[in-house]
Amino acid sequence: MNNLSVEHLTGINDLTREDIELIFKTADSFKEVINRPIKKVPSLRDITIANLFFENSTRTRLSFELAEKRLSADVVNFSAASSSVKKGETLIDTVNNILSMKVDMVVMRHPNPGAAKFLSERINAKVVNAGDGTHEHPTQALLDAYSIRERLGSVEGKKVVIVGDILHSRVALSNIYCLQKLGAEVMVCGPTTLIPKYIEELGVKVEHNLIRALEWCDVANMLRIQLERQDIKYFPSLREYSMQFGLNKEILDALPKEIIVMHPGPINRGVEITSDVADSKQSIILQQVENGVAVRMAVIYLLAAKIERQ
Ligand code: CP
Repeated sequence: MNNLSVEHLTGINDLTREDIELIFKTADSFKEVINRPIKKVPSLRDITIANLFFENSTRTRLSFELAEKRLSADVVNFSAASSSVKKGETLIDTVNNILSMKVDMVVMRHPNPGAAKFLSERINAKVVNAGDGTHEHPTQALLDAYSIRERLGSVEGKKVVIVGDILHSRVALSNIYCLQKLGAEVMVCGPTTLIPKYIEELGVKVEHNLIRALEWCDVANMLRIQLERQDIKYFPSLREYSMQFGLNKEILDALPKEIIVMHPGPINRGVEITSDVADSKQSIILQQVENGVAVRMAVIYLLAAKIERQ
């Protein structure tokens, strides 16, 4: 198979295992490209991509922009903070105005779950979801799984625990879908208040004791506490959260086997993870960021292949 089964990337749930494997195979080639002295290919010289960010981002926005430029696409950037959205313009009006400028693909981060899907059903351009509220962050999950495959040889059969604020996390949901499609076992770990009530229906294990979760896993993906999405108090204090669910070097070194540590960023050092763990040889946090560019190049390249050129 050398074609994706989908027209847009709005969520991992829409992808088949074959789609994910095709994205990884394509990313392998692009990883080789971005490590060359000339880190660019002319593949998308005829394509224009708009990056629409209605929510803050550092890694995802830069990573998409770099991926697009490495593929030689023309790129326009839009940030809601400095746009006419502030004057009351709707999402569809904003996007239609941008599309009138002959844009072929839209990469969008939006605070509302379902926003990317909504857009993909209404515009004549490819849509890539760069995070839609608490719903999905598909390219993050793809780069996370790609990084596990790179470090451990494969994802199949591996045990991955996702620790932290699962309730507000789009990264957790996309990771669960992606890892399960690739044959991994998934556990979530955190305070009862931050674990969604029906999460076991997705086929994941639930553990509220960090040490037991770490003893079980091959990989620990440590998530940030998303205070900006918490309208009520879910735990007494960050200090208490950190004491129960924070990963430090003492805990890591006491485990019976060596595990790998991941984090999607941004990191709150000293809360979910200490600096000595984040910077340790078991951490693959910076490899995740590097792989993000190759994986996003693959996603954009494969979706662009489905654009009908006149
Ligand atoms: N991992 C992630 O989505 O980071 P940003 O919010 O900085 O894009």
